[in-house]
Amino acid sequence: MAHTGRRFAVVTGASSGIGYELALRCAQEGFDILIAADRPEIEAAATVFRRTGVSVKALQLDLSTTQGVDTLYGEIGGRQVDALFANAGQGLGHAFLDQSFSDIQQVIETNITGTIYLLHQVGADMRQRGQGRILITGSIAGFVPGSFQAVYNATKAFINSFSFALRNEMKESGVTVTCLMPGATDTEVFERADMLDTTVGKAKKDDPKDVANIGFDAMMRGDGDVVAGWKNKMLAAIANVTPSSILAEAHRAMAEPDSTKQ
Ligand SMILES: NC(=O)c1ccc[n+]([C@@H]2O[C@H](COP(=O)([O-])OP(=O)(O)OC[C@H]3O[C@@H](n4cnc5c(N)ncnc54)[C@H](OP(=O)(O)O)[C@@H]3O)[C@@H](O)[C@H]2O)c1
Repeated sequence: MAHTGRRFAVVTGASSGIGYELALRCAQEGFDILIAADRPEIEAAATVFRRTGVSVKALQLDLSTTQGVDTLYGEIGGRQVDALFANAGQGLGHAFLDQSFSDIQQVIETNITGTIYLLHQVGADMRQRGQGRILITGSIAGFVPGSFQAVYNATKAFINSFSFALRNEMKESGVTVTCLMPGATDTEVFERADMLDTTVGKAKKDDPKDVANIGFDAMMRGDGDVVAGWKNKMLAAIANVTPSSILAEAHRAMAEPDSTKQ
């Protein structure tokens, strides 16, 4: 992406929800942005972001594939990335054995493989330069065995853990790594995961703008992690001292579809 003298951010999953709000905040803060998502809606988001006056390039590609990530990395074109927001992710509701295995793979390859492949490439450039900020969207779901959303929660456990480890490895490098851990947030993720017919799907949720601003500010401060909102901070603290079997049962009550409850 062409140099303009402005700072430069890359935001994945910027077409909706938390990623949209992260990209908007970047643009409002004067970052040029390279944004990506896998559906055409990314272009409509780019049109909104361009109204701030910064340079915006939108890519429609599948970040569950190495080719998709390679294309995104290629579009950076050697420009210095000041901030990377590794945010794209997908949920997947229903009991594990009732999910299609191709959907399961898509979740793992988007939430884990594509995410860490992008971090591997952009992170190496940042380390070489001795400068950069990374925000990874994990989740408080990563603290809880996710009955009726088992694969998704496991991917977020991976991402939360990975983020802390990468931060530690990079601590002398000049690059900061921050893990944003939202609770249930009012985005399209529940509809796409076919979870509207669940207690969590119907519950009141956090505003994605508030969540994104909490993450953006934590990243700029160079914090290690941030759980968005006091209620989620309490849930995370309780999860840390509660046996996994009890957490799994509590998650069942939140995520089991009403249609399959006994
Ligand atoms: N909402 C919550 O309750 C919650 C809680 C904790 C963590 N999170 C995490 O927050 C992040 C953002 O999710 P959200 O809640 O804002 O949901 P969302 O509105 O569904 O946004 C997800 C974004 O990721 C993109 N994406 C998904 N799979 C992709 C792929 N294979 N290739 C390229 N782009 C892909 C989507 O693009 P398309 O629109 O083009 O598909 C969309 O822009 C995710 O990592 C999610 O796990 C969400």
